Formats: sequence, C-alpha cells, structure tokens
Amino acid sequence: MKQLQEKIKNEGKVLSNQVLKVDSFLNHQIDAFLMREVGKEFADRFKNDGITKIVTLESSGIAPSVMTALELNVPVVFARKRKSLTLTDQLLTASVYSFTKQEENTIAVSGEHLSSEDRVLVIDDFLANGQAALGLAEIVEQAGASLAGIGIVIEKSFQEGGKILREKGFRVESLARIKSLEKHVVQFLEETEE
Ligand code: G4P
Ligand code: NA
Ligand code: NA
Repeated sequence: MKQLQEKIKNEGKVLSNQVLKVDSFLNHQIDAFLMREVGKEFADRFKNDGITKIVTLESSGIAPSVMTALELNVPVVFARKRKSLTLTDQLLTASVYSFTKQEENTIAVSGEHLSSEDRVLVIDDFLANGQAALGLAEIVEQAGASLAGIGIVIEKSFQEGGKILREKGFRVESLARIKSLEKHVVQFLEETEE
C-alpha cells in the first residue's frame, strides 16, 4: 500500500536494526485518515471471504480493526492483555510469549462474542515473531470459529513471524512489508519479491 509506505518513509523512526517507531500515526498518535485507507484496503482484500467478525489485540490493533469493520459492516472483538473486572465469563485464552519483554502473557476473549458460526479476520498492527497472531488464531480455534486470514499493517519480513504463519497455512495479508531496517534505512519488500 503506497500511501502507507510513504508514511513509514516520512515519519517512521528506525530505532535499531529490529525496531521501527511509528508513534506519529499508529502506536500513539493515530492518523485516522490513513487508518481509514488501511481499513478500505483490508476490506477490499477480504471482501469475498464472508467475514462475520474481526478479532484483534489491544491496544494498537484496535484502530485499523475498527476502520476495517466499518467497511465490512461487522463487529470487532479485541483480546485483552490484562485482567478485567468484568471479563469473567466463558473465557477463551491463549498464552503469548513476548521476545522483546521475555515474558509469557495471557490474552483473553469472552466466548460470548465469538462462536462456531463466525468467520474471522484477525488484524494486528505489527508482525514480528508472530506470537500474538498465533495466540489470536488459537482463540479463534477454541471458539470453534473459522479463520479466513490475518491482516497486518506492518510486517517485518526479516523476522520469523510471516514465515511461521504462512507455513502453518494461514493467509497473511500485510499492507507494508519491511525487508530491512539496517543502516537506519527502511527497505520495503516489493510485491514481486518473496
Ligand atoms: P515479538 O516478540 O513478536 O517481537 O513481539 P512482542 O510481543 O515482543 O512485541 C511487543 C510489542 O511490540 C507489541 O505491541 C508489538 O506489536 C510491538 N512491536 C514489535 N515489533 C515492533 C516494531 O518494530 N515497532 C513497533 N512500533 N512495535 C513493534 P504491544 O506491546 O502489544 O503494544 P500495543 O501497541 O498493541 O499496545
Ligand atoms: Na504495538
Ligand atoms: Na500490537
């Protein structure tokens, strides 16, 4: 997605060979107009898949998910990372290992909002090692729902996540794929490359 690549080039800050900071439009301040375009793009890619629900993870997955949900006319369910006072019934949970934080976290969704009738699109802001997406896929499976695919705003192709998810047979649609962050330069993987 050209517009997203331009935004990353202009406003993304390369913090290291591994980490791209996009706090000006995705992870802190949100560019709602860009998110609307992101939503249109995901919706276009999944428009023929009979999606009934979008599942994401708080917090940065919520904005692109809501925009996609408006286009597809479906609800969004976001998995919670922290214990909730009210989220207590029929919990579907998965354990997600964070490489950066080196800790295991439980993510949870209420079974009330996900059923075997659902055809799910999972959306997240970043794909790095793929652990969050795997956790969400596990929750979808626990609900007996089917997973149509995984929509990612920014995939870091030099990390393992994309490979792991695609090898498991998941359909992964990433709107920007980063090949390298070396020498403080963002290099994109073009559509012809793999
Ligand atoms: P990983 O080991 O698979 O890399 O994922 P990890 O769980 O350690 O990621 C921790 C957080 O960092 C996640 O957000 C993830 O989306 C984000 N992340 C991973 N790589 C990058 C990157 O290059 N740039 C940015 N900006 N974020 C990255 P989170 O803690 O779930 O936070 P939230 O923003 O969703 O609230
Ligand atoms: Na994040
Ligand atoms: Na995230």
